[in-house]
Amino acid sequence: MRNEAMDDFVERVSEATDILRVVQGYVPLKRRGNRYWGCCPFHQEKTASFSVVPDKGFFYCFGCHAGGNAFKFISLIENISYFDAIKLQAEKLGIPLPERRRSPQEIAREREIKDLRKVNELARDFFHNCLTMTRMGETGKAYFAGRGIREETIEEFQLGYAPPAWDKLSTAFLKRGIKQEFLLASGLSAERKQGNGLYDRFRGRVIIPIADERGRVVGFGGRVLDDSTPKYLNTPETILFNKRKILFGLDRSHRAIQQEGRAIVVEGYMDAISVFDAGVHNVVASLGTSFTPEHAKKLLHYAPEICFCYDSDEAGQKATIRALSIVRDTGAVVRVIVVPDGKDPDEFIRRHGADAFRKLVDKALPLVEYRLRYVLSHVNYDTLDGKVRALHEMLPVLAGIREPAARMEYEKKLAQTLMLDEGLVRSEIRHYHGGTEQAASPARQPIRQAIVRQDTALQKAGRIVIRMAWQDAAVLVHLETIVPLEGIQSSAQREILTFFKTSMEQGRPVDEASAASLSDEAAAELSRALVEDLGGREEAEAYDDSLRVLRRAYLNALYAEHSRKANEYAQNGQHEACLQELNEVNKIKHEMDEW
Ligand code: CTP
Ligand code: MN
Repeated sequence: MRNEAMDDFVERVSEATDILRVVQGYVPLKRRGNRYWGCCPFHQEKTASFSVVPDKGFFYCFGCHAGGNAFKFISLIENISYFDAIKLQAEKLGIPLPERRRSPQEIAREREIKDLRKVNELARDFFHNCLTMTRMGETGKAYFAGRGIREETIEEFQLGYAPPAWDKLSTAFLKRGIKQEFLLASGLSAERKQGNGLYDRFRGRVIIPIADERGRVVGFGGRVLDDSTPKYLNTPETILFNKRKILFGLDRSHRAIQQEGRAIVVEGYMDAISVFDAGVHNVVASLGTSFTPEHAKKLLHYAPEICFCYDSDEAGQKATIRALSIVRDTGAVVRVIVVPDGKDPDEFIRRHGADAFRKLVDKALPLVEYRLRYVLSHVNYDTLDGKVRALHEMLPVLAGIREPAARMEYEKKLAQTLMLDEGLVRSEIRHYHGGTEQAASPARQPIRQAIVRQDTALQKAGRIVIRMAWQDAAVLVHLETIVPLEGIQSSAQREILTFFKTSMEQGRPVDEASAASLSDEAAAELSRALVEDLGGREEAEAYDDSLRVLRRAYLNALYAEHSRKANEYAQNGQHEACLQELNEVNKIKHEMDEW
């Protein structure tokens, strides 16, 4: 579906956007030639490998391969969708969004979400004021003080207090004209069982507002002040509040997570607050539910490493093991921070201080180490039965270690500890490997890992051709006489060139805005193509060289394919067909010598 007003809008915003100004709002840059350089905001680095080419409208990081246009940059750094980035930029530039015809259902839902957000915001202020400005709040203040929570922290997290009365909030909000249906839909109030009217869900509890990544309040957690149960009460599932997706604290921690390259995950709100307060800012808490694949995905958006710091009691260890098995499939780098003597991070910090906690963080165990310790402390491996169990519990973890040297080290360690033959341990792992390797699809690897690929001359050649085709679509016609697009081996490059071709055929211009439809991987490759230097060659020379490289790779692939077929026919006794294939093989070989 095409929408001219929308296209127009995107084009206007594109035209008015200066990528340099956008990026400089976040990253200090220095000019060198026609490029600007700075330290990449998307991974940790000390030397500048992040570059912006203003005349092309692109940025690219040679370290982590993030790249794209100004909107892509905004969407990455603000963690919003591409389209939201355009809208955000439009807002800054004062360009109004075109009116779009929406269905009545859409309008109703959007309004409901907006209203619920507003109600949640008002409730946060209500609880916070109750804590900080009323006499009732003294009880809450005393509770926080007793836990060593400072006033600055109360402000930072906008902590609050719900008075021990049945309907303070409900009555106050109804009086302000907030409709009953919103109070119910937000989970702040419930309907009385007897008689009519509403009562407050949160009563006599300290309140912790829970925000989404962008800092918008979506729900609340309330803790009792004594030992009564339930200890915590949360907002029920609403259209804004989905526990499987929300991570407490992410709105405050995502920058730090990005900078450190790792996220620390704790179990409780209070843990997250204490850890944050101790100066370790890259922390989030899962909300009483176990850690989900959705949580992992969200965190991997910011950093390749997830570091679990759960309670060290038996329940905490079990939760850690469960969480580990969830993230293992995502390709994340996983570590575990072990908090000594059965404590949770909050108690540990209160007892031993922030410095001691930061030392624990530095000593986080790699996944294998932690698993090994856990298995060895939970299995009696004096018996043969125990040895077999321990070995089998370790197999998935060991098989998942990519570096052969490290894997061998652990195989040896495990064999020694269990007093088993090293060869046996190794063969069990190989066996396990063979059975599962195919199941691990590349799509399940996080984006960051997938893009850190080998950079071969072939890929570079592909990028040079892409760069030429971007400037002049006629290049494509020439390219296709030498290598058909299906013969381009990199899937990202094939996607880009095919996109150029379809655009050309449909008479659409190829520009940053239309390139937004490319996959993330292709978009990054395109930006890289546009900013990469030509290795000191003239464009024409670089182009010729590149075509040669691409053609040779193409011929190589053809050669292999025809040889395989010839071989197959020979085995089946189909001599005629075999000869034909061999003929092809010969022709290709001839041509290969020429190129
Ligand atoms: N939780 C919950 N409902 C409960 C108990 C726990 O939702 N009845 C969730 C809360 O998000 C809590 C987390 O599980 O933060 C961890 O629970 P627990 O370890 O029992 O609490 P702590 O975080 O140690 O809380 P505190 O230090 O306040 O006792
Ligand atoms: Mn605790």
